[in-house]
Amino acid sequence: MLKFYIETVGCQMNVLDSELAHSSLVQSGLVPTTNRNNADVILFNTCSVRQHAEDKIYSALGRLKHWKVTKPYGVLGVIGCMAQKEQKIIFQRAPHVDLVLGPGQLELLSETVHQLLDEKLQQNRVDREVDQKMESGKKLLVSLKRQEHRHAEVVGSFRLFDPVRNPEARYNRFQAMVRIMFGCDKFCTYCIVPSVRGPEQSRPPQEIIDEIQTLVRQGVVEITLIGQTVNSYRYKTGGKTTLLSDLLYQVSKIEGLQRICFVTNYPRGMDDDLLYAVRDLPKVAKHLHVPAQSGSDAVLRRMKRNYSASEYRELVSRIYATIPNVSMTCDFIVGFCGETDEEFLQTVELVQDCRFKNSFIFKYSERRGTKSAELYADDVQESVKKIRNNILLEIQDKISLEQNQQFIGKTVEILVEGTTKQFETGDVQLSGRTSCDRIVVFDAPDNRLIGQFLKLNIYDAAPFTLFAKQPADS
Ligand code: SAH
Ligand code: SF4
Ligand code: F3S
Repeated sequence: MLKFYIETVGCQMNVLDSELAHSSLVQSGLVPTTNRNNADVILFNTCSVRQHAEDKIYSALGRLKHWKVTKPYGVLGVIGCMAQKEQKIIFQRAPHVDLVLGPGQLELLSETVHQLLDEKLQQNRVDREVDQKMESGKKLLVSLKRQEHRHAEVVGSFRLFDPVRNPEARYNRFQAMVRIMFGCDKFCTYCIVPSVRGPEQSRPPQEIIDEIQTLVRQGVVEITLIGQTVNSYRYKTGGKTTLLSDLLYQVSKIEGLQRICFVTNYPRGMDDDLLYAVRDLPKVAKHLHVPAQSGSDAVLRRMKRNYSASEYRELVSRIYATIPNVSMTCDFIVGFCGETDEEFLQTVELVQDCRFKNSFIFKYSERRGTKSAELYADDVQESVKKIRNNILLEIQDKISLEQNQQFIGKTVEILVEGTTKQFETGDVQLSGRTSCDRIVVFDAPDNRLIGQFLKLNIYDAAPFTLFAKQPADS
Protein backbone atom coordinates (compact mmCIF):
# COMPACT_ATOMS: atom_id res chain seq x y z
CA MET A 1 0.00 0.00 0.00
CA LEU A 2 1.66 3.18 -1.17
CA LYS A 3 1.09 6.30 0.91
CA PHE A 4 0.83 9.96 -0.03
CA TYR A 5 1.17 13.22 1.85
CA ILE A 6 0.11 16.69 0.66
CA GLU A 7 1.33 19.94 2.19
CA THR A 8 -0.71 23.01 1.29
CA VAL A 9 0.04 26.74 1.36
CA GLY A 10 -1.76 29.65 -0.29
CA CYS A 11 -5.38 30.66 -0.63
CA GLN A 12 -8.71 28.81 -0.60
CA MET A 13 -8.14 27.72 -4.21
CA ASN A 14 -5.22 25.63 -3.04
CA VAL A 15 -7.05 24.25 -0.01
CA LEU A 16 -9.80 23.06 -2.35
CA ASP A 17 -7.32 21.75 -4.93
CA SER A 18 -5.57 19.74 -2.21
CA GLU A 19 -8.89 18.22 -1.24
CA LEU A 20 -9.54 17.30 -4.87
CA ALA A 21 -6.01 15.94 -5.30
CA HIS A 22 -6.48 13.91 -2.11
CA SER A 23 -9.80 12.49 -3.40
CA SER A 24 -8.37 11.51 -6.77
CA LEU A 25 -5.26 9.88 -5.27
CA VAL A 26 -7.45 7.87 -2.86
CA GLN A 27 -9.67 6.83 -5.78
CA SER A 28 -6.57 5.61 -7.59
CA GLY A 29 -5.63 3.32 -4.71
CA LEU A 30 -3.10 5.36 -2.72
CA VAL A 31 -3.50 5.81 1.04
CA PRO A 32 -3.19 9.17 2.82
CA THR A 33 -0.71 9.60 5.67
CA THR A 34 -0.12 12.45 8.08
CA ASN A 35 3.51 11.44 8.57
CA ARG A 36 5.55 12.95 5.76
CA ASN A 37 8.56 10.70 6.30
CA ASN A 38 6.41 7.59 5.87
CA ALA A 39 5.01 8.74 2.56
CA ASP A 40 5.93 7.30 -0.83
CA VAL A 41 4.51 10.35 -2.60
CA ILE A 42 5.02 13.86 -1.21
CA LEU A 43 3.25 16.74 -2.91
CA PHE A 44 3.63 20.44 -2.17
CA ASN A 45 0.64 22.49 -3.25
CA THR A 46 2.29 25.86 -3.67
CA CYS A 47 1.59 29.61 -3.87
CA SER A 48 3.42 32.24 -5.89
CA VAL A 49 1.69 35.37 -4.70
CA ARG A 50 4.70 36.57 -2.70
CA GLN A 51 8.40 35.68 -2.88
CA HIS A 52 8.43 34.49 0.72
CA ALA A 53 5.92 31.70 -0.11
CA GLU A 54 8.18 30.43 -2.91
CA ASP A 55 11.36 30.62 -0.83
CA LYS A 56 9.77 28.45 1.85
CA ILE A 57 8.94 25.75 -0.70
CA TYR A 58 12.46 25.71 -2.13
CA SER A 59 13.92 25.22 1.33
CA ALA A 60 11.37 22.51 2.17
CA LEU A 61 12.28 20.76 -1.09
CA GLY A 62 15.97 21.05 -0.19
CA ARG A 63 15.34 19.38 3.16
CA LEU A 64 13.72 16.44 1.37
CA LYS A 65 16.90 15.35 -0.40
CA HIS A 66 17.51 12.83 2.37
CA TRP A 67 13.99 11.41 1.91
CA LYS A 68 14.83 10.69 -1.73
CA VAL A 69 17.93 8.83 -0.58
CA THR A 70 15.90 6.65 1.77
CA LYS A 71 13.07 6.23 -0.78
CA PRO A 72 14.64 6.26 -4.24
CA TYR A 73 11.34 5.16 -5.82
CA GLY A 74 9.40 7.90 -4.00
CA VAL A 75 7.70 10.66 -5.97
CA LEU A 76 8.31 14.25 -4.91
CA GLY A 77 5.93 16.64 -6.64
CA VAL A 78 5.25 20.36 -6.85
CA ILE A 79 1.69 21.27 -7.76
CA GLY A 80 -0.22 24.57 -7.54
CA CYS A 81 0.69 28.05 -8.68
CA MET A 82 4.46 27.78 -8.34
CA ALA A 83 4.41 24.76 -10.64
CA GLN A 84 2.75 26.91 -13.28
CA LYS A 85 5.00 29.92 -12.72
CA GLU A 86 8.40 28.28 -12.28
CA GLN A 87 8.00 25.18 -14.44
CA LYS A 88 11.52 23.97 -15.45
CA ILE A 89 13.21 26.26 -12.91
CA ILE A 90 12.00 23.91 -10.17
CA PHE A 91 13.89 20.97 -11.73
CA GLN A 92 16.97 23.18 -12.07
CA ARG A 93 16.90 24.37 -8.47
CA ALA A 94 15.74 21.06 -6.99
CA PRO A 95 16.79 18.27 -9.38
CA HIS A 96 15.43 15.59 -7.06
CA VAL A 97 11.86 16.76 -7.78
CA ASP A 98 10.00 14.22 -9.91
CA LEU A 99 6.84 16.02 -10.85
CA VAL A 100 5.78 19.57 -11.63
CA LEU A 101 2.06 19.83 -12.37
CA GLY A 102 0.16 23.09 -12.83
CA PRO A 103 -3.21 23.98 -11.28
CA GLY A 104 -4.99 23.62 -14.63
CA GLN A 105 -3.86 20.00 -14.94
CA LEU A 106 -5.12 18.56 -11.69
CA GLU A 107 -7.16 15.90 -13.50
CA LEU A 108 -3.89 14.35 -14.73
CA LEU A 109 -2.37 14.17 -11.26
CA SER A 110 -3.17 10.63 -10.16
CA GLU A 111 -2.39 9.17 -13.58
CA THR A 112 0.99 10.92 -13.70
CA VAL A 113 1.87 10.00 -10.11
CA HIS A 114 1.14 6.33 -10.86
CA GLN A 115 3.20 6.40 -14.06
CA LEU A 116 6.13 7.86 -12.17
CA LEU A 117 5.74 5.41 -9.30
CA ASP A 118 5.66 2.45 -11.71
CA GLU A 119 8.70 3.67 -13.59
CA LYS A 120 10.59 4.46 -10.43
CA LEU A 121 9.81 1.16 -8.76
CA GLN A 122 11.07 -0.57 -11.89
CA GLN A 123 14.09 1.73 -12.07
CA ASN A 124 14.75 1.04 -8.43
CA ARG A 125 14.86 -2.68 -9.19
CA VAL A 126 17.25 -2.07 -12.12
CA ASP A 127 19.40 0.19 -9.95
CA ARG A 128 19.52 -2.45 -7.23
CA GLU A 129 20.62 -5.06 -9.75
CA VAL A 130 23.23 -2.62 -11.01
CA ASP A 131 24.42 -2.01 -7.47
CA GLN A 132 24.71 -5.73 -6.83
CA LYS A 133 26.73 -6.18 -10.02
CA MET A 134 28.86 -3.19 -9.00
CA GLU A 135 29.64 -4.91 -5.77
CA SER A 136 30.66 -8.02 -7.66
CA GLY A 137 33.08 -5.96 -9.73
CA LYS A 138 31.16 -5.63 -13.01
CA LYS A 139 31.48 -1.86 -13.06
CA LEU A 140 31.28 -1.44 -16.80
CA LEU A 141 27.66 -2.43 -16.94
CA VAL A 142 26.72 0.36 -14.59
CA SER A 143 27.12 3.29 -16.90
CA LEU A 144 25.21 1.45 -19.58
CA LYS A 145 22.27 0.51 -17.42
CA ARG A 146 21.70 3.33 -14.99
CA GLN A 147 19.14 5.68 -16.42
CA GLU A 148 18.70 9.39 -16.09
CA HIS A 149 16.44 10.75 -13.35
CA ARG A 150 13.08 10.77 -15.11
CA HIS A 151 10.64 13.49 -14.24
CA ALA A 152 7.32 14.74 -15.50
CA GLU A 153 6.31 18.30 -16.27
CA VAL A 154 2.60 18.81 -16.79
CA VAL A 155 1.68 22.44 -17.27
CA GLY A 156 -0.50 24.02 -19.88
CA SER A 157 -3.96 25.26 -20.64
CA PHE A 158 -6.53 25.38 -17.87
CA ARG A 159 -9.10 22.69 -17.45
CA LEU A 160 -11.68 22.69 -14.71
CA PHE A 161 -11.47 19.77 -12.34
CA ASP A 162 -13.98 19.38 -9.55
CA PRO A 163 -14.68 15.65 -9.38
CA VAL A 164 -16.43 13.54 -6.76
CA ARG A 165 -16.05 15.12 -3.34
CA ASN A 166 -14.69 12.96 -0.57
CA PRO A 167 -15.52 14.03 3.02
CA GLU A 168 -12.42 12.23 4.30
CA ALA A 169 -10.28 14.67 2.34
CA ARG A 170 -11.78 17.77 3.96
CA TYR A 171 -10.71 19.69 7.06
CA ASN A 172 -14.09 18.78 8.54
CA ARG A 173 -17.35 17.13 7.56
CA PHE A 174 -19.73 20.05 7.86
CA GLN A 175 -17.94 22.84 5.97
CA ALA A 176 -16.83 22.77 2.34
CA MET A 177 -15.67 25.03 -0.44
CA VAL A 178 -17.14 24.99 -3.90
CA ARG A 179 -15.39 26.60 -6.83
CA ILE A 180 -17.79 28.63 -8.89
CA MET A 181 -15.22 30.28 -11.11
CA PHE A 182 -11.62 29.70 -12.03
CA GLY A 183 -8.86 32.19 -12.89
CA CYS A 184 -8.77 35.98 -13.12
CA ASP A 185 -8.92 38.51 -15.95
CA LYS A 186 -8.18 41.63 -13.92
CA PHE A 187 -4.39 41.71 -14.24
CA CYS A 188 -3.66 44.06 -11.35
CA THR A 189 -0.08 45.06 -12.11
CA TYR A 190 1.46 43.48 -8.99
CA CYS A 191 -0.34 40.17 -9.19
CA ILE A 192 0.83 36.79 -10.49
CA VAL A 193 -2.55 35.08 -10.13
CA PRO A 194 -3.88 35.69 -13.70
CA SER A 195 -0.76 34.11 -15.19
CA VAL A 196 -0.77 31.09 -12.89
CA ARG A 197 -4.50 30.47 -12.75
CA GLY A 198 -5.49 31.40 -16.30
CA PRO A 199 -8.50 33.34 -17.60
CA GLU A 200 -11.85 33.64 -15.81
CA GLN A 201 -14.14 30.67 -16.45
CA SER A 202 -17.47 30.33 -14.65
CA ARG A 203 -18.93 26.90 -13.99
CA PRO A 204 -22.50 26.10 -15.10
CA PRO A 205 -24.98 26.82 -12.27
CA GLN A 206 -26.50 23.34 -12.42
CA GLU A 207 -23.10 21.74 -11.93
CA ILE A 208 -22.54 23.93 -8.86
CA ILE A 209 -25.98 23.12 -7.44
CA ASP A 210 -25.44 19.39 -8.01
CA GLU A 211 -22.07 19.54 -6.26
CA ILE A 212 -23.55 21.39 -3.28
CA GLN A 213 -26.40 18.88 -3.06
CA THR A 214 -23.84 16.07 -2.94
CA LEU A 215 -21.97 17.92 -0.20
CA VAL A 216 -25.14 18.49 1.82
CA ARG A 217 -25.94 14.77 1.56
CA GLN A 218 -22.44 14.19 2.98
CA GLY A 219 -23.37 16.32 6.00
CA VAL A 220 -22.16 19.77 4.95
CA VAL A 221 -24.11 22.68 6.50
CA GLU A 222 -21.89 25.60 5.45
CA ILE A 223 -20.42 26.15 2.02
CA THR A 224 -18.06 28.81 0.76
CA LEU A 225 -18.34 29.67 -2.91
CA ILE A 226 -14.85 30.54 -4.09
CA GLY A 227 -13.28 32.40 -6.98
CA GLN A 228 -10.43 34.91 -7.28
CA THR A 229 -13.02 37.49 -8.27
CA VAL A 230 -16.09 35.60 -7.17
CA ASN A 231 -18.50 38.44 -7.94
CA SER A 232 -17.42 38.31 -11.60
CA TYR A 233 -19.32 35.01 -11.79
CA ARG A 234 -21.41 35.07 -14.96
CA TYR A 235 -22.74 32.08 -16.85
CA LYS A 236 -24.61 32.49 -20.12
CA THR A 237 -26.70 29.79 -21.66
CA GLY A 238 -29.72 29.85 -24.00
CA GLY A 239 -30.05 33.64 -23.80
CA LYS A 240 -30.11 33.54 -19.97
CA THR A 241 -27.31 34.92 -17.83
CA THR A 242 -26.79 33.75 -14.25
CA LEU A 243 -24.98 36.20 -11.98
CA LEU A 244 -23.62 35.57 -8.47
CA SER A 245 -26.80 37.09 -6.99
CA ASP A 246 -28.95 34.64 -9.02
CA LEU A 247 -26.75 31.78 -7.93
CA LEU A 248 -27.13 32.78 -4.26
CA TYR A 249 -30.92 32.60 -4.64
CA GLN A 250 -30.66 29.16 -6.25
CA VAL A 251 -28.20 27.80 -3.69
CA SER A 252 -30.30 29.18 -0.82
CA LYS A 253 -33.13 26.85 -1.83
CA ILE A 254 -31.05 23.75 -1.07
CA GLU A 255 -32.61 22.10 1.95
CA GLY A 256 -30.25 21.18 4.76
CA LEU A 257 -27.73 23.81 3.78
CA GLN A 258 -27.62 26.45 6.52
CA ARG A 259 -24.92 28.99 5.70
CA ILE A 260 -23.50 30.30 2.43
CA CYS A 261 -20.30 32.36 2.28
CA PHE A 262 -18.42 33.64 -0.78
CA VAL A 263 -14.89 35.03 -1.39
CA THR A 264 -13.09 37.03 -2.85
CA ASN A 265 -14.88 40.07 -4.20
CA TYR A 266 -13.47 42.61 -6.60
CA PRO A 267 -14.69 46.13 -5.68
CA ARG A 268 -15.99 46.76 -9.18
CA GLY A 269 -19.07 44.68 -9.72
CA MET A 270 -20.37 44.84 -6.15
CA ASP A 271 -23.72 45.74 -7.63
CA ASP A 272 -26.97 46.30 -5.76
CA ASP A 273 -28.44 42.98 -6.90
CA LEU A 274 -25.63 41.23 -5.01
CA LEU A 275 -26.00 43.39 -1.89
CA TYR A 276 -29.77 42.82 -1.89
CA ALA A 277 -29.24 39.06 -2.16
CA VAL A 278 -26.90 39.17 0.85
CA ARG A 279 -29.41 41.29 2.76
CA ASP A 280 -32.51 39.28 1.85
CA LEU A 281 -31.29 35.69 1.98
CA PRO A 282 -31.09 34.54 5.60
CA LYS A 283 -28.64 31.74 4.79
CA VAL A 284 -26.10 34.09 3.20
CA ALA A 285 -23.40 35.13 5.68
CA LYS A 286 -23.40 38.83 6.54
CA HIS A 287 -19.75 39.27 5.75
CA LEU A 288 -18.04 40.68 2.68
CA HIS A 289 -14.34 40.49 1.89
CA VAL A 290 -13.63 43.27 -0.60
CA PRO A 291 -9.91 44.07 -0.94
CA ALA A 292 -9.11 47.76 -1.46
CA GLN A 293 -5.27 47.35 -1.70
CA SER A 294 -4.64 51.09 -1.23
CA GLY A 295 -6.35 54.34 -0.31
CA SER A 296 -4.39 56.44 -2.79
CA ASP A 297 -5.71 57.14 -6.29
CA ALA A 298 -2.20 57.36 -7.70
CA VAL A 299 -1.22 54.00 -6.23
CA LEU A 300 -4.52 52.42 -7.32
CA ARG A 301 -3.79 53.67 -10.83
CA ARG A 302 -0.29 52.17 -10.79
CA MET A 303 -1.85 48.94 -9.52
CA LYS A 304 -4.47 49.14 -12.31
CA ARG A 305 -7.30 48.45 -9.89
CA ASN A 306 -9.87 50.34 -12.00
CA TYR A 307 -11.47 52.32 -9.16
CA SER A 308 -10.63 55.40 -7.14
CA ALA A 309 -10.43 55.66 -3.36
CA SER A 310 -13.65 57.67 -3.31
CA GLU A 311 -15.45 55.03 -5.38
CA TYR A 312 -14.28 52.44 -2.87
CA ARG A 313 -15.53 54.59 0.03
CA GLU A 314 -18.91 54.97 -1.68
CA LEU A 315 -19.08 51.20 -2.04
CA VAL A 316 -18.35 50.72 1.67
CA SER A 317 -21.09 53.23 2.59
CA ARG A 318 -23.53 51.51 0.23
CA ILE A 319 -22.72 48.11 1.79
CA TYR A 320 -23.19 49.37 5.38
CA ALA A 321 -26.39 51.21 4.42
CA THR A 322 -27.88 48.22 2.61
CA ILE A 323 -27.04 45.22 4.79
CA PRO A 324 -27.78 45.50 8.52
CA ASN A 325 -25.08 44.10 10.81
CA VAL A 326 -22.75 43.30 7.93
CA SER A 327 -19.02 43.08 8.55
CA MET A 328 -16.35 43.88 5.99
CA THR A 329 -12.76 42.67 5.68
CA CYS A 330 -10.06 44.00 3.43
CA ASP A 331 -6.61 43.38 1.91
CA PHE A 332 -3.92 46.04 1.57
CA ILE A 333 -0.49 46.10 -0.01
CA VAL A 334 1.99 48.49 1.60
CA GLY A 335 5.18 49.72 -0.02
CA PHE A 336 3.98 49.30 -3.59
CA CYS A 337 6.35 50.78 -6.20
CA GLY A 338 6.81 54.51 -5.64
CA GLU A 339 4.44 54.69 -2.63
CA THR A 340 5.19 57.99 -0.87
CA ASP A 341 4.46 58.84 2.77
CA GLU A 342 1.46 60.92 1.61
CA GLU A 343 0.10 58.05 -0.46
CA PHE A 344 0.50 55.68 2.47
CA LEU A 345 -1.30 58.15 4.75
CA GLN A 346 -4.27 58.04 2.40
CA THR A 347 -4.42 54.28 3.03
CA VAL A 348 -4.27 54.95 6.77
CA GLU A 349 -7.25 57.30 6.41
CA LEU A 350 -9.18 54.74 4.42
CA VAL A 351 -8.60 52.10 7.11
CA GLN A 352 -9.66 54.57 9.80
CA ASP A 353 -12.82 55.48 7.94
CA CYS A 354 -14.01 52.10 6.69
CA ARG A 355 -14.21 50.30 10.03
CA PHE A 356 -13.31 46.86 8.71
CA LYS A 357 -13.71 43.85 10.97
CA ASN A 358 -10.13 43.08 10.05
CA SER A 359 -7.57 43.71 7.35
CA PHE A 360 -4.90 41.51 5.83
CA ILE A 361 -1.85 43.61 5.18
CA PHE A 362 0.95 42.55 2.86
CA LYS A 363 4.31 44.08 2.04
CA TYR A 364 4.69 44.47 -1.71
CA SER A 365 6.67 41.59 -3.17
CA GLU A 366 7.86 41.95 -6.75
CA ARG A 367 6.85 39.02 -8.97
CA ARG A 368 8.74 38.24 -12.13
CA GLY A 369 6.37 38.29 -15.09
CA THR A 370 4.00 40.94 -13.74
CA LYS A 371 3.45 44.41 -15.21
CA SER A 372 4.66 46.22 -12.12
CA ALA A 373 7.93 44.28 -12.19
CA GLU A 374 8.34 45.39 -15.80
CA LEU A 375 7.21 49.02 -15.41
CA TYR A 376 8.19 50.22 -11.94
CA ALA A 377 11.09 49.89 -9.56
CA ASP A 378 10.47 48.10 -6.26
CA ASP A 379 11.86 51.20 -4.59
CA VAL A 380 10.30 51.30 -1.13
CA GLN A 381 12.86 50.01 1.36
CA GLU A 382 12.04 46.82 3.22
CA SER A 383 12.35 48.67 6.54
CA VAL A 384 9.78 51.24 5.38
CA LYS A 385 7.42 48.51 4.21
CA LYS A 386 7.71 46.92 7.64
CA ILE A 387 6.95 50.18 9.46
CA ARG A 388 3.93 50.87 7.23
CA ASN A 389 2.73 47.32 7.74
CA ASN A 390 2.93 47.69 11.52
CA ILE A 391 1.22 51.09 11.51
CA LEU A 392 -1.76 49.74 9.57
CA LEU A 393 -1.92 46.62 11.73
CA GLU A 394 -1.98 48.69 14.89
CA ILE A 395 -4.79 50.93 13.62
CA GLN A 396 -6.79 47.97 12.39
CA ASP A 397 -6.31 46.08 15.69
CA LYS A 398 -7.75 49.01 17.60
CA ILE A 399 -10.78 49.15 15.29
CA SER A 400 -11.22 45.36 15.47
CA LEU A 401 -11.22 45.55 19.27
CA GLU A 402 -13.69 48.46 19.34
CA GLN A 403 -16.01 46.60 17.01
CA ASN A 404 -15.80 43.38 18.99
CA GLN A 405 -16.43 45.21 22.28
CA GLN A 406 -19.83 46.24 20.92
CA PHE A 407 -20.84 42.58 21.14
CA ILE A 408 -20.34 42.36 24.91
CA GLY A 409 -23.70 41.55 26.52
CA LYS A 410 -25.24 40.41 23.24
CA THR A 411 -26.35 36.97 22.09
CA VAL A 412 -24.90 35.61 18.86
CA GLU A 413 -25.39 32.46 16.85
CA ILE A 414 -22.31 30.51 15.77
CA LEU A 415 -21.44 27.39 13.85
CA VAL A 416 -19.10 25.47 16.17
CA GLU A 417 -15.99 24.60 14.16
CA GLY A 418 -13.48 22.90 16.42
CA THR A 419 -11.50 22.64 19.62
CA THR A 420 -8.97 25.31 20.51
CA LYS A 421 -7.90 24.13 23.99
CA GLN A 422 -8.02 21.02 26.12
CA PHE A 423 -8.19 21.66 29.89
CA GLU A 424 -6.77 19.36 32.56
CA THR A 425 -10.29 19.02 34.00
CA GLY A 426 -11.36 17.32 30.77
CA ASP A 427 -13.30 20.38 29.62
CA VAL A 428 -12.53 21.87 26.23
CA GLN A 429 -12.56 25.31 24.66
CA LEU A 430 -14.54 25.26 21.43
CA SER A 431 -14.50 27.88 18.72
CA GLY A 432 -16.87 28.87 15.97
CA ARG A 433 -17.92 31.74 13.76
CA THR A 434 -20.88 34.07 13.53
CA SER A 435 -22.61 34.87 10.27
CA CYS A 436 -20.55 38.09 10.23
CA ASP A 437 -17.37 35.95 10.44
CA ARG A 438 -16.41 36.75 14.02
CA ILE A 439 -14.53 34.09 15.94
CA VAL A 440 -16.21 33.10 19.22
CA VAL A 441 -14.71 30.81 21.88
CA PHE A 442 -16.46 29.16 24.82
CA ASP A 443 -15.89 26.32 27.27
CA ALA A 444 -17.82 23.07 27.07
CA PRO A 445 -17.61 19.67 28.73
CA ASP A 446 -16.84 17.85 25.45
CA ASN A 447 -16.59 18.08 21.64
CA ARG A 448 -20.16 17.09 20.91
CA LEU A 449 -21.28 20.55 19.80
CA ILE A 450 -18.82 20.67 16.88
CA GLY A 451 -20.72 21.03 13.62
CA GLN A 452 -23.81 22.52 15.26
CA PHE A 453 -25.35 25.98 15.28
CA LEU A 454 -25.56 27.40 18.78
CA LYS A 455 -26.64 30.63 20.53
CA LEU A 456 -24.14 32.10 23.00
CA ASN A 457 -23.85 35.11 25.30
CA ILE A 458 -20.77 37.28 24.77
CA TYR A 459 -19.04 38.47 27.97
CA ASP A 460 -15.63 39.69 26.74
CA ALA A 461 -13.78 40.72 23.58
CA ALA A 462 -10.29 40.84 22.08
CA PRO A 463 -9.42 42.14 18.58
CA PHE A 464 -9.86 38.75 16.91
CA THR A 465 -11.93 36.84 19.44
CA LEU A 466 -15.22 37.09 21.29
CA PHE A 467 -15.51 35.18 24.58
CA ALA A 468 -18.85 33.58 25.28
CA LYS A 469 -20.86 31.39 27.62
CA GLN A 470 -23.77 29.12 26.89
CA PRO A 471 -27.03 30.66 28.14
CA ALA A 472 -28.03 29.25 31.52
CA ASP A 473 -31.23 27.70 30.16
CA SER A 474 -29.52 25.70 27.37
N1 SAH B 1 -8.34 37.88 -5.90
C1 SAH B 1 -8.19 38.52 -4.71
C2 SAH B 1 -6.94 38.16 -3.93
C3 SAH B 1 -5.72 37.72 -4.63
S1 SAH B 1 -4.26 37.38 -3.75
C4 SAH B 1 -8.33 40.00 -4.97
O1 SAH B 1 -8.41 40.43 -6.07
O2 SAH B 1 -8.37 40.77 -4.07
C5 SAH B 1 -4.57 37.88 -2.10
C6 SAH B 1 -3.93 39.15 -1.71
O3 SAH B 1 -2.54 39.08 -1.83
C7 SAH B 1 -4.33 40.34 -2.57
O4 SAH B 1 -5.54 40.87 -2.21
C8 SAH B 1 -3.19 41.29 -2.33
O5 SAH B 1 -3.45 42.12 -1.22
C9 SAH B 1 -2.02 40.38 -1.99
N2 SAH B 1 -1.02 40.35 -3.06
C10 SAH B 1 -1.19 39.97 -4.35
N3 SAH B 1 -0.03 40.13 -5.04
C11 SAH B 1 0.88 40.62 -4.18
C12 SAH B 1 2.25 41.01 -4.28
N4 SAH B 1 2.89 40.93 -5.43
N5 SAH B 1 2.86 41.47 -3.16
C13 SAH B 1 2.20 41.57 -1.99
N6 SAH B 1 0.92 41.23 -1.84
C14 SAH B 1 0.25 40.76 -2.92
FE1 SF4 C 1 -4.77 39.35 -8.51
FE2 SF4 C 1 -6.12 41.52 -9.04
FE3 SF4 C 1 -6.96 39.17 -9.99
FE4 SF4 C 1 -7.13 39.67 -7.40
S1 SF4 C 1 -8.21 40.78 -9.05
S2 SF4 C 1 -6.37 37.82 -8.34
S3 SF4 C 1 -5.33 40.92 -7.02
S4 SF4 C 1 -5.10 40.24 -10.56
FE1 F3S D 1 -1.32 31.85 -4.12
FE2 F3S D 1 -2.20 30.71 -6.27
FE3 F3S D 1 -3.87 31.41 -4.40
S1 F3S D 1 -0.61 32.24 -6.17
S2 F3S D 1 -2.92 33.18 -3.49
S3 F3S D 1 -2.32 29.90 -4.20
S4 F3S D 1 -4.25 31.41 -6.57
